[in-house]
Amino acid sequence: MIDLHSHILPGIDDGARSMQQSLEMARQAVVAGVTHMVCTPHIHPNYFDNSYETINPVFNEFRLALATNKIPLSVTFAAEIRLSADIPVWIKQQQILYIGHYQSRQAVMLELPHSHIPAGTDNLIKWMIANKVQPIVVHPERNRDIWKDYSKIMFLRRAGAIFQVTAGAFIGRFSEVAQQIAERMLDESLISFVASDTHDIERRPNDMLLCKKRLIELKGENVADELTLLTPKEITQLMEWH
Ligand SMILES: [Fe+2]
Repeated sequence: MIDLHSHILPGIDDGARSMQQSLEMARQAVVAGVTHMVCTPHIHPNYFDNSYETINPVFNEFRLALATNKIPLSVTFAAEIRLSADIPVWIKQQQILYIGHYQSRQAVMLELPHSHIPAGTDNLIKWMIANKVQPIVVHPERNRDIWKDYSKIMFLRRAGAIFQVTAGAFIGRFSEVAQQIAERMLDESLISFVASDTHDIERRPNDMLLCKKRLIELKGENVADELTLLTPKEITQLMEWH
């Protein structure tokens, strides 16, 4: 499987706190059946002031540590970017970290606040689409506005967003309502891919294997492969490893 969302880099967000923890998370991912992981630290101004400059050196240390410790996990990096009025500026200035491509657009992992969908989110999504950038809204199943009104999913979809659901949502890691939303989105073919969003090995572990088993139960092997391997592969366009 290919895991496009992880907080595995040490010391730069609310994920791994040390290289030792990062390596434990990497071993757990390998046991879960993940062969490639994209490290996606938060970029959230005033909370996690990350950028290419802060992420790249930590990523290089991590990749070296994986090799030194002979952990068979291939890695690249991007970021999980918090909804911000600065996003158009970052795109125009080519200062945004893309996760890859989706159809003819470069793709960005976009995080909304958990509490609500801010006014103007649809306009930002439309602006991104008009500028050939595909927003991938991450974990919509944990957004309180969507808990209250599921039709908000279609509101974001109509604006142009696609969705990544968290693997753990399918196995009850979050609330019952998050699980129901994940399953409804699956039924309605509204999920482009699932990802672990792992933060540590205990509270927020890598749930990709358990999720895949559940997806097979619900929809069969083909859909499970599409959501855990084929679409992530297409987005990252990394064709050389398997
Ligand atoms: Fe995340």
